[in-house]
Amino acid sequence: MGSGSTQRAVKPLFSQQEIEEKTHALAAKIASEEPSPLIIVAIKKGGVPFAELLASALTVQGLTVEVATLGLSSYGKGTTSSGNVSLTQDLSTEIRGVQVILVDDILETGKTLSFAWDHVLTKGATDVKTCVLLDKPHKSRTREADYVGFACPDLFVVGFGLDLAGRYRDLPFVGVLED
Ligand code: IMP
Ligand code: MG
Repeated sequence: MGSGSTQRAVKPLFSQQEIEEKTHALAAKIASEEPSPLIIVAIKKGGVPFAELLASALTVQGLTVEVATLGLSSYGKGTTSSGNVSLTQDLSTEIRGVQVILVDDILETGKTLSFAWDHVLTKGATDVKTCVLLDKPHKSRTREADYVGFACPDLFVVGFGLDLAGRYRDLPFVGVLED
């Protein structure tokens, strides 16, 4: 359990069932608009659970998808972004000449998606789309998402990939930490 502090209760905001239904609806929309095959680039670590679920839903829709990963970090151990995105693991797959969809857990300032966008273009992707499970309001966005699951209240949320200093990532739903 790490640092020794106690696990806090998490009040659900989006249930596992809501996340699954929303992801299947998003997959139907993506399948009607995007080509097959395509590569999903999951932004590690937080974007991985959503990317895996989305890949499975896209496969049900008849698309051929591959999930690649890209490790980026900006939050450190706190609940506010450092604003500086750094590369923690380069792309796990060659993407030259293919269309990719960048997938992350949550969009806030857009700096993470902007960094990933520039990175995959540098690596030769021909076309880049973006998809996030949650969209948290922010006044000066550097990049918007093409596909969004839920509008998220302006709170620090955890679960379904989202963590606080590495914790709560494996919860099957998204919620808010209680005091
Ligand atoms: P952005 O770069 O400001 O758009 O922030 C997006 C990144 O910040 C995501 O990939 C998350 O890692 C992290 N993040 C933003 N809001 C939250 C939150 O409420 N909980 C956990 N992580 C968050
Ligand atoms: Mg992240």
